[in-house]
Amino acid sequence: MPAMLPTLKGQKINLRRVHKSDAESIYRYARDNEISRYTFLPNPYRIDDAYRFISTTHAALRAKKAFIFGIEHKQEKKIIGMISLEQVNFQHLLAEAGYWLGKQFWGQGIAKEALQLLLNFGFKQLKLNRIYARVMHPNTASCRLLERTGFRKEGVMRKAVWRDGLWLDLIWYAILKDEFKEFMKRNR
Ligand SMILES: CC(C)(COP(=O)(O)OP(=O)(O)OC[C@H]1O[C@@H](n2cnc3c(N)ncnc32)[C@H](O)[C@@H]1OP(=O)(O)O)[C@@H](O)C(=O)NCCC(=O)NCCS
Repeated sequence: MPAMLPTLKGQKINLRRVHKSDAESIYRYARDNEISRYTFLPNPYRIDDAYRFISTTHAALRAKKAFIFGIEHKQEKKIIGMISLEQVNFQHLLAEAGYWLGKQFWGQGIAKEALQLLLNFGFKQLKLNRIYARVMHPNTASCRLLERTGFRKEGVMRKAVWRDGLWLDLIWYAILKDEFKEFMKRNR
């Protein structure tokens, strides 16, 4: 298991550890209502939330509880979103994937690239066997992203989140190590 968070190199993006100097960037994108709508990010999002979050990512890594990466745009050289493996359980070899991306970067295949890098890290370096994700209904973009990276829908937790005066269902997705290997072979 890596003692430090490695930088995972992609084509349009890299995944890397975030630093205090990334707080402004994280704040700029995370404060958008369209990001908090289907995530558990604070709303309103303040600059202090970004600083606190950055410290949390370091503490979680030290405790080996979560591996939280900034999504760095290679051309713009700044953090444009976050992606993570949390609830990491080394007894049962599983973890939960979570992510968000600044709105101006949606629809360019960036989340797909980031998620593939994350899965590769989770299955190969952390040697996990199962990575799952929970999506609030109706977050179509996130469901589609998971399906396009080889996740399978496993079930629905009905009325699991109270959001803006409404109960939302949580849709559970997961991908197993063997399924990821197959998926990568087919999409090479
Ligand atoms: C979910 C999210 C990360 C997707 O990011 P993205 O970079 O736009 O996704 P990609 O461009 O990699 O697209 C992946 C797939 O989803 C599809 N997709 C993306 N947005 C979509 C939308 N709004 N409706 C339908 N399909 C969509 C893409 O077409 C692509 O499928 P394809 O390969 O068949 O073309 C982004 O919308 C986001 O940050 N949303 C707010 C935060 C959030 O909801 N996080 C997830 C919580 S579970």
